[in-house]
Amino acid sequence: MEKVKLNNGLAMPILGLGVFQIPDAAACEKAVIDAIEIGYRLIDTAASYQNERAVGHAIKKSGVEREDLFITSKVWVQDIGYEKTKAAFQQSLDKLQLDYLDLYLIHQPYGDIFGSWKAMQELYHEGKIKAIGVANFHPDRLMDLIANSGFTPVINQIETHPFYQQFETQKFLDENKVQIQSWGPFAEGKHDIFKHEILSAIGHKYNKSVAQVILRWLIQRGVVAIPKSIRKERMAENFKIFDFQLSTDDMQHIGTLDTNSSSFFDHRDPAMVKWLSEYKVDL
Ligand SMILES: NC(=O)c1ccc[n+]([C@@H]2O[C@H](COP(=O)([O-])OP(=O)(O)OC[C@H]3O[C@@H](n4cnc5c(N)ncnc54)[C@H](OP(=O)(O)O)[C@@H]3O)[C@@H](O)[C@H]2O)c1
Repeated sequence: MEKVKLNNGLAMPILGLGVFQIPDAAACEKAVIDAIEIGYRLIDTAASYQNERAVGHAIKKSGVEREDLFITSKVWVQDIGYEKTKAAFQQSLDKLQLDYLDLYLIHQPYGDIFGSWKAMQELYHEGKIKAIGVANFHPDRLMDLIANSGFTPVINQIETHPFYQQFETQKFLDENKVQIQSWGPFAEGKHDIFKHEILSAIGHKYNKSVAQVILRWLIQRGVVAIPKSIRKERMAENFKIFDFQLSTDDMQHIGTLDTNSSSFFDHRDPAMVKWLSEYKVDL
């Protein structure tokens, strides 16, 4: 498995499994066990996905050594702030039955993120988290955090797929030594992506599926990807992307699909800021 080196020296697999929208514990546990069996070592969960316990059971049952896995979780908005983040982190750790996390992220850029960031830095220095980062931060919010905390996140996990390619943001992140990670690499199937004419035609040339073309395009750009699937055959398909290389022409052709806007919602839309800030999860 190819790895990227984060700004603190930690190596992170460039491909992993995301477990968003798998609320059923048995389904989530099976998905993670299947993924690890296939060879996945990076698992991306979050407190708000309400499946950390299932991920923890799967890790235990997988038989793979803890140090060979890379486990990410995230603090949800209702736990933003110094004290609450410390408690939320311990709760995540307990549910996952782990004694450290590889990566812990601020899930949304709202509320007392500086309090959370301070708590996370302390947990990092205590060795309870190997690296800390953020998700869904637009460049201005990220620069605010870097400039006013003096501590640069290792990663920014943001919506990145053929219809929202994030080239400018990736440049900004590179300049600031923050690794870009894609969430929603398939735009969750929107735009009939798996049947897209251009992506299908490119796939045909390499005898690869649309999903494989998208993931290859991401990792060839140096973007860490965490596609979600509950189907083992799809996980295996999504994993077979290290045996081919897209030509420069094909990379550029995919570049023409960019709409430079979210396929979901804008994190700067005041209505969404309010909605997400008030979104309570039963943790
Ligand atoms: N930080 C954030 O705010 C944030 C937001 C969203 C997501 N994420 C993370 O990013 C991960 C991935 O994003 P996502 O789950 O939103 O969406 P996604 O990975 O873009 O798409 C998942 C969808 O694609 C289907 N799929 C997967 N592989 C396929 C294949 N080879 N062929 C056809 N269909 C396939 C899945 O169906 P099946 O399961 O039925 O195969 C599912 O419906 C999440 O799981 C989560 O870990 C983070």
